Amino acid sequence: MTAKILDGKSISEEIKNAIKFEVGRLKGKGVTPGLAVVLVGDNPASKVYVKNKQKACENVGIYSEEYKLPESTSQEELLTIVDRLNKNSKIHGILVQLPLPKHINSDTILKAINPSKDVDGFHPYNVGMLMIGEPVFIPCTPYGVMKMVEHSGIAVEGKTAVVVGRSNIVGKPVALLLMQKNATVTICHSKTKDLAEVCKNADILIAAIGKPKMIRADMVKEGAVVIDVGINRLSDGSLVGDVDYEEVSKKAGWITPVPGGVGPMTITMLLNNTLEAARKSAEGL
Ligand code: GUN
Repeated sequence: MTAKILDGKSISEEIKNAIKFEVGRLKGKGVTPGLAVVLVGDNPASKVYVKNKQKACENVGIYSEEYKLPESTSQEELLTIVDRLNKNSKIHGILVQLPLPKHINSDTILKAINPSKDVDGFHPYNVGMLMIGEPVFIPCTPYGVMKMVEHSGIAVEGKTAVVVGRSNIVGKPVALLLMQKNATVTICHSKTKDLAEVCKNADILIAAIGKPKMIRADMVKEGAVVIDVGINRLSDGSLVGDVDYEEVSKKAGWITPVPGGVGPMTITMLLNNTLEAARKSAEGL
């Protein structure tokens, strides 16, 4: 079997067109959605993400501000900036790019973002709302994964889903979302015994580990839906996912490419969340 491609790039274009239209409508009512992106230090991957986020905002008509702060920025200074953005009525969404430098406590920063501007969905309020099945802002990558599955007409209900990786950004929230769509979900991690055997049960396999090509064909059920959240840069400069694409694409039913799979969906859901934040604030006027 040769897997069908879950084409995140083209699905995200479709969703972005709808977002662009809605942004235009909101602007017609006098509200321009605004996003602030805060980057501390010069992590090369983060710089690329932040640049892509800004470009995407521009393309759909969302106003964006970028705060590029030096590695030496103190926690207090960063809190002051977050506080200012919380109070800035032009800004509806605030994104502090992770990871932050070691001397800054990420949890403290994420908790300082006004939950109604938390377009990443990382504030404990939004995490809790997702947990109880009343999501306000859903983290962009898991949200993008679910949208991609939905757009491709893949049924989730009753399926066995295996999530490899238990991060707060991807593994845990994507497991919750799959469960809310009535999948039977297993979360695996670095201490899981017989990982290959567990993965082989999956009708839907989500790889969010951060290890290049870790998911091999012998870990995948014939015909499975394989979603690769990993983006790893190899020493030769090439980008690969957590899934061995060449092998697994011969066995899976569906597969996401890297790049061009989950990545574009993540950015699109950030635009979606920023639009939603602006809409909600406009309702409150
Ligand atoms: N670093 C890696 N992914 C993300 C994300 O979705 N949001 C933020 N803020 N930082 C990240």
